[in-house]
Amino acid sequence: MLFLDASPSQIEAAAGIIRDGGVCAFPTETVYGLGADALNERAVAKIFEAKRRPFFDPLICHVHDIDSFLSMTRDVPPLAMALAEAFWPGPLTLVCRKKDHIPSLVTAGLPTVGVRIPSHPVALELIRACNLPVAAPSANPFGYLSPTSAAHVREQLEGRIDALLDGGSCAVGVESTIVQVDGAGVFILRPGGVSAEDIERITGEPVSYRTDAVLPDAPGQLDSHYAPEAGVVVIPEYAEVPHTEKCALLAFRENRRSNEFISVEILSTDGDLREAAANLFAALHRLDSCGAVRIYAEAVPETGLGAAIMNRLRKAAAPKVP
Ligand code: TXA
Ligand code: MG
Repeated sequence: MLFLDASPSQIEAAAGIIRDGGVCAFPTETVYGLGADALNERAVAKIFEAKRRPFFDPLICHVHDIDSFLSMTRDVPPLAMALAEAFWPGPLTLVCRKKDHIPSLVTAGLPTVGVRIPSHPVALELIRACNLPVAAPSANPFGYLSPTSAAHVREQLEGRIDALLDGGSCAVGVESTIVQVDGAGVFILRPGGVSAEDIERITGEPVSYRTDAVLPDAPGQLDSHYAPEAGVVVIPEYAEVPHTEKCALLAFRENRRSNEFISVEILSTDGDLREAAANLFAALHRLDSCGAVRIYAEAVPETGLGAAIMNRLRKAAAPKVP
């Protein structure tokens, strides 16, 4: 496995690996992605293999401009275009009808494809140099915590991928918001780095959530996801915890308890939800390696990026299916 830095020549080397059908992890503003040529089914299959990801879970394609987005999709609704113009490059994924040349392995057989233009300069440079749509799920083993630094990717996938491009830590820290616009309205399939409030400001109509039950076969949507090895229990902020032996605490703003946790992480002393989102996965990674058998995680307010944080915490706390 090659370790690359974010210099122009190393970004070019990463692009060469992807163009040649390899898989390379790279930074985005949300989380690290595991990229391959979206139009090459053998390359895409390597992503599923490295992540041990089930084939029914579709991948997001990354492009560097709107023309590339339009070359993969058809019948893009005007409201979807308005969202693209407002939030790209940035943490928004649009699910649109796909053109025939997009392999069904990428979309898990769905007639739609998820596309986004990331804002991380290294990601944009890499995708431009590939001159291809880059399919990239988060660069973690399926169901486990998402990586927000190159070290996270290395710990989890070393030896299973061709290369890792190190671009520092991810500023947003939670995955993109996935949105689908259709005749019935504007739907959030996964809350993420663009808040529902920001989306409503552009569309001028309320967004609805279209989650698990409605979309059984498109499963970032699976109940257990984003899960550390330790069990996670979501508790109200400042709630007393009965049993803290071998337990860790993920606090939102401060810890007012006298209990003996093995380790405590505070997401944002100012109670800033953007800062909390940026710290979320790194804090969970640290707590998961401190030897705790259980992580108590405080709930955060579900406004702005708080909706994405609570979505990740609930999925981390959901029962794991073996
Ligand atoms: O921020 C992000 O979106 C990151 C970075 C790397 O870009 N990527 C990411 O990918 O979170 P991943 O594989 O962890 O999540 C992809 C999820 C799928 O699990 C599925 O829920 C949804 O995106 N998805 C992809 N294509 C879809 C489609 N055609 N219809 C519905 N949902 C789709
Ligand atoms: Mg993921």
